Amino acid sequence: MNEFKFRKGKLYCEDVSIEAIAKKEGTPFYLYSKKTFLRHFDAFDGAFKSVRHITCFAVKANSNIAILNLLAKAGAGADIVSGGELFRAKKAGFPSKKIIFSGVGKSDEEIEYALRAGILMFNIESSEEAETINKIAAKIGKKAPVSFRINPDIDPKTHPYISTGLSKNKFGISIDDALKEYKRANKMKWLDVVGIHYHIGSQLTSISPFVDSIKRMKRLLQILRSEGINIKYFDMGGGLGITYKDETPPHPREYAKALIPHIKDLDCTVLFEPGRVIAGNAGILVTKVLFTKKTAVKNFVIVDAGMNDLLRPSLYGAYQEIVPVKKSSKKKIEVDVVGPICETGDFLARDRLVAKVKRDDLLAVMSAGAYGFTMSSVYNSRPRVPEILADGKNYYVIRKRETYKDLIRGEIIPKAQGRKS
Ligand code: LLP
Repeated sequence: MNEFKFRKGKLYCEDVSIEAIAKKEGTPFYLYSKKTFLRHFDAFDGAFKSVRHITCFAVKANSNIAILNLLAKAGAGADIVSGGELFRAKKAGFPSKKIIFSGVGKSDEEIEYALRAGILMFNIESSEEAETINKIAAKIGKKAPVSFRINPDIDPKTHPYISTGLSKNKFGISIDDALKEYKRANKMKWLDVVGIHYHIGSQLTSISPFVDSIKRMKRLLQILRSEGINIKYFDMGGGLGITYKDETPPHPREYAKALIPHIKDLDCTVLFEPGRVIAGNAGILVTKVLFTKKTAVKNFVIVDAGMNDLLRPSLYGAYQEIVPVKKSSKKKIEVDVVGPICETGDFLARDRLVAKVKRDDLLAVMSAGAYGFTMSSVYNSRPRVPEILADGKNYYVIRKRETYKDLIRGEIIPKAQGRKS
């Protein structure tokens, strides 16, 4: 059920009026629906109940500790890509044995931190990383459970910036080098080679690239096993897409139906790393119209949220639906919805038909629960906006609006700052 819906012409999230939140908390703000997060997680996780698996939420999609805590309690694991995400995941209550560490550039400190925490597995992306993890594990006297991220060279047919499984991409090791790398790592004293990993891209809207990758990986799995390498985890990454506009991605149910025949006999625990499919349509960004203006060629709606708050339209040309929080019978006109940032690339929508709005009207930018707040910045010294979680009739501020003081936290003017050094 959609938890973002109109009641008597006003947009609600669960049973909370968005206008009422705006009145109390100011704008802009991110707003999430607890029910939707849980429903999405249950739909995904439940679809695979017939296979032994862990659904490890990709923390990068939405890393607020309240959201992570919600998912941890629902039984999720976590897919992390930095020490910071590990810190969040632990604070949120994920058991270490459900945490996997992906990412192409792990620092020595991050590796040591994760080793000491006792995570389930490191997804290694290069031979130098394997050597480094082995060394650090030796230093602290604790074996590191590892897998290699394999680049299967499969085109996920998504935006080039979020396509990760082609041989020209920086990710993983080539499937042709895999056996050599696995054999090498298997001889390293402080590595425990337990898994195989791949992630071919994000916002995939068809099933075939997933199935093609499984087939390739299964062949590799058989080869590795025949070499005596004991693979226990088969990590399929994330990537399942959502509807932003008119995309028709498979429902997790269909996704599972297509994949289960290929994975049910793997004799492995299957790991999934979904981010967007759980978080994307569980959140929105609410913004207020500051001004409208008409130039010779365009109508501009200038709002109080910018590319620093939601980067996806600027960075990928991504489409995010925009709807007035108060249903409007006004005629739709073609507008650019732009933010206050001093960049031409600062827009939330371009050449979009939106019902005519005026100063102080509220707009909801839909499908902003994944890669929204997590990609936000304070560019132009704009404090980050709050994150709010609706839960039935109540709502909770789960991250406060930043203040000007927060902006300069940690900045230092050197004493006796003169012209001479
Ligand atoms: N696992 C790994 C190793 C990943 O790199 C990613 C996403 C995921 C899992 C989760 O993928 P998902 O299920 O969310 O598609 N900022 C971009 C998306 C970048 C995705 C990066 N990796 C966007 O806003 O569209």
